[in-house]
Amino acid sequence: MFEHFPRYPGDPIFSLVDRCRQDPRPEKVNLSIGLYYDDAGRVPKLQSVSIAEEALRAESQACIYQPMAGAANYRQAVQEVLFGASHSKVKDKHIATAQTIGGSGALKLGSDLLRQYFPDSQVWVSDPSWDNHAAIFSGSGFTVNRYPYFDVANSGVNFPAMLACLEKLPARSIVLLHPCCHNPTGADLTSAQWHEVVKIAKARELIPFCDIAYQGLAQGMDEDAYVIRALADAGVSFLVSNSFSKTFSLYGERCGALSMVCKDAEEADRVLGQMEFTVRRSYSSPPTHGGQIVARVLLDPALNAMWRDEVEAMRVRIVQMRQALHDQILALRPDAQCAFIVSQRGMFSYSSFFAKHAQELRDRFGIYILDSGRVCITGLNTGNVQRVAQAIVQVLE
Ligand code: LMR
Repeated sequence: MFEHFPRYPGDPIFSLVDRCRQDPRPEKVNLSIGLYYDDAGRVPKLQSVSIAEEALRAESQACIYQPMAGAANYRQAVQEVLFGASHSKVKDKHIATAQTIGGSGALKLGSDLLRQYFPDSQVWVSDPSWDNHAAIFSGSGFTVNRYPYFDVANSGVNFPAMLACLEKLPARSIVLLHPCCHNPTGADLTSAQWHEVVKIAKARELIPFCDIAYQGLAQGMDEDAYVIRALADAGVSFLVSNSFSKTFSLYGERCGALSMVCKDAEEADRVLGQMEFTVRRSYSSPPTHGGQIVARVLLDPALNAMWRDEVEAMRVRIVQMRQALHDQILALRPDAQCAFIVSQRGMFSYSSFFAKHAQELRDRFGIYILDSGRVCITGLNTGNVQRVAQAIVQVLE
């Protein structure tokens, strides 16, 4: 019956994690999947999360079904962290938010909904983008195109080319944007550049779809939401998918949300109903536990402050590891072109140099980076950064 099912070649990121796990070399370094590790190489358990979990355990509630859109307190907390608690769009209830199964679930819910109500639209993602972006949108039936983004020559953003492309898109084109910590490149837009994008989105009636999975890990919690708030301020109707996997170190709990910013409260209510219907006919309702941990932390002022400090500590460690890698490469090879390592932001660094040498780094040194040239900086620590720098310099030779 199922003989015509072709073999799945595997996901490039998850397959590489498996290969690294099977590598017997004790000195191997995993710089593949986007997980945050501490300086001891462990995925941390946040203190704010432990306290919230303890409080929830003490309450020992029965685990009944959640509403289709998820828990009201979680949805409120999501809007406050993305838009700011005092934003008029939040206060006036112009935003429809549903709790989803991770950020990927939010992208899937958003793309299924858009496909139903904008069947003639096409999707535009950055070149390059996280592989799953194109997979999710094409899985919903969309044609997925790419807008120019990465500038190979300076390992930054080719903003004029990006803008020139967006300026020509037909109205109601769906444009996937990374508000911060671009995945895979780490090359972000400045506030002034975002302002240009907002102007074009409004003038050309595009549908921006902001995917934010690393809020707080580039410049800060509020700074990283710049384009989300600028689009809302400009009165643009748009979508935001967000994930708390990285910033709460709660990957397996799959805590995400889809928010759709609408013209008024009545429209938001109708949009939320369509989100509920789409959820009901795919997985019915989201799970409880992880979302309640997140809501407890975000809505309790003391826990919220503790969590923000913990995210800030992650951000600072990432900056330190970027600097350490950069400095150690230069100490060994003063002419190496590696300034991009410190100018890119968030968990990832990306360059054509890394792409060219990914296999050699893996085979000769047990250093696992993606074949695309993406390096997960959070896998570096004070114990392995020198070895990684030495390996990079050796493949340069
Ligand atoms: C990544 O990009 O490595 C992470 O977002 C994990 C994933 O799901 O691919």
